[in-house]
Amino acid sequence: MADSRETKARAFVAGFPIGHSRSPLIHNHWIGQFALDGYYEALEIAPENFEAFIKDLKKSESHRGGNVTIPHKEAAYRLADKPDELAEELGASNTLWLEDGLIHATNTDGHGFTANLDHHRAGWDKVDTAVILGAGGASRSVIQSLRNRGIKEIHVVNRTVDRARQLADHFGPTIHAQPMGALSEVLKGAGLFVNTTSLGMDGTEAMAIDFTPLAQNALVTDIVYVPLKTSFLTQAEKQGFSTVDGLGMLLHQAVPGFEKWFGRRPNVDMALRQRVIDDMDR
Ligand code: ATR
Repeated sequence: MADSRETKARAFVAGFPIGHSRSPLIHNHWIGQFALDGYYEALEIAPENFEAFIKDLKKSESHRGGNVTIPHKEAAYRLADKPDELAEELGASNTLWLEDGLIHATNTDGHGFTANLDHHRAGWDKVDTAVILGAGGASRSVIQSLRNRGIKEIHVVNRTVDRARQLADHFGPTIHAQPMGALSEVLKGAGLFVNTTSLGMDGTEAMAIDFTPLAQNALVTDIVYVPLKTSFLTQAEKQGFSTVDGLGMLLHQAVPGFEKWFGRRPNVDMALRQRVIDDMDR
């Protein structure tokens, strides 16, 4: 007999290793809230099997699409039939969906980042200058989303300044590459300061930062959410600045995918946030 789950709407997160992805918890929470007949599962797909996985996906009767995570984000973009502009510019996709037998691809990390800030402070984007620490994959989505929201000047400060330069060349004239030594200078009067590096995660040594050159009402945010209060955020708070942790970005980046697969727009509420925090504590 066929697995009864075959008849349900299915979505997935594919990664390697898939480890302890929180995506199933988030999506199954919403499936429960809407009482949908569907499920969301974590799939460990080795890099050499990813292309075949995508081909099979097109033939699936029940799969609506899914998320892809490390190390498949670039391959997902390459293998998609219809990447949107966001995925195109990043050369990477974290969200796929099937439509008319074709695989569509987008990248929702930037949406997650800006929606998290919208939720905390309306009008946060009415700042002239933002400073981003880090120039890796996560920084790319943040730069894209801030530029698309019309932030006039974005300074990307990185240990390896060449990586920041590559991003500035890629994303256009409002993006400025800066060495670490320029940090205090570029923070002067800035209204938003974002950490996209792994500095401050468990086990990494904290870097002492003087936040005081920032504008008085500046917002400080971290895309890292383990721990929830990174040393970056703790230092900012001690120096009197408002902060937003990175967990909301994870929750909000999941919203557009869920809507594509299951046809309902879910809310990021406190109950969901608490469920993920409880899961992190286990
Ligand atoms: P991700 O895709 O998650 O952004 P990544 O591509 O490995 O990850 O990028 C990590 C970022 O953290 C980079 O900006 C990195 O700086 P370099 O480009 O100079 O490597 C930054 N980073 C990591 N450890 C750091 C450290 N100890 N000091 C300063 N920057 C660090």
